[in-house]
Amino acid sequence: MAAFGTQFTTEMVISRFGDGQWSNLEVVPVQPFSMHPATHVLHYASECFEGLKAYRTAAGGIHLFRPDRHVARMLNSAAQLLLPAPDEAALKRSLQMAVSAVADEIPAYPGALYLRPTLLGTEEDIGAAARPTSKALYYVLTSPVGDYFSGGLQPLRVKVDDQAQRSTPNFGAVKTGGNYAAAMRQVVQAKQEFGADQVLFAPGGVVQETGAANFVLIDGNELLTKPLDGSILPGVTRDSILQLARDAGLTICERDFSVEELLERAPGAEAALTGTAAVLTPVGELVYQGSTIKVGDGQMGPWSERLREQLCAIQSGAAEDPHGWRVPL
Ligand code: COI
Repeated sequence: MAAFGTQFTTEMVISRFGDGQWSNLEVVPVQPFSMHPATHVLHYASECFEGLKAYRTAAGGIHLFRPDRHVARMLNSAAQLLLPAPDEAALKRSLQMAVSAVADEIPAYPGALYLRPTLLGTEEDIGAAARPTSKALYYVLTSPVGDYFSGGLQPLRVKVDDQAQRSTPNFGAVKTGGNYAAAMRQVVQAKQEFGADQVLFAPGGVVQETGAANFVLIDGNELLTKPLDGSILPGVTRDSILQLARDAGLTICERDFSVEELLERAPGAEAALTGTAAVLTPVGELVYQGSTIKVGDGQMGPWSERLREQLCAIQSGAAEDPHGWRVPL
């Protein structure tokens, strides 16, 4: 399968906002946009997006995974950016339309259809730095995907950075390109200097999340992760893994924890990244100030394996769906 995010389907859903209203959602061929050089998003980063997946089950059914949560998060991102957004019902309908339009292009499990709903400010006005855009474009691009990390399900090597910020304290919950732009240099440097796959941001020594996914530590009977305080993305996969861990009898501990605590516990623990793209990917090694610290025995631990398998079985349709996360087409 092509690298994650590089292959696209033939159709997408689109709607435009102008004169105070949204146009009807339309299915159109995937094609380049033409934009005036003064377009708001190109200057003032008025942009947010989502990432969710649709799956084809062995029996041939198609469902979206927790679309309601993604719609809620997009509405929150849009509100923080003062971007006009289609209403909840239209956003939900757009996801269904986008999947239906390309139903025969959804790969069989473990592949999936990745949906990238995106909202942009399109007013042509470079003077509009201090006021919201009056025009917007919403579209749902879809991409058949496999694994996000190029090595597949290999334990990751993650650099712990206690200096850099991936976002400002209250903007971390907003899924906007700016937060990914802020993380990119650190991730690229960590790869070049330490062969790391990702960076775990821990500004001021408090562990947050990585550039592409949330972070969890599982030690004994406890799953430890940072609380949703606005500084990190409220991950839908994070929420799903926490629920499955709770169901399995783990104690969920959502609290701030330090790099010092992480490094002390890591050799006897498991760690993982959670995200729509990452699913649950184990962390085998941490790199801190040039030293490598193995997480457990460096391989995927039993809890990570169990939780990943349970999540994948629900997503693929192979298991019951006790929490009603699958939304059929
Ligand atoms: C996702 O997991 O959906 C994301 O948006 C992360 C991105 C780096 C692919």
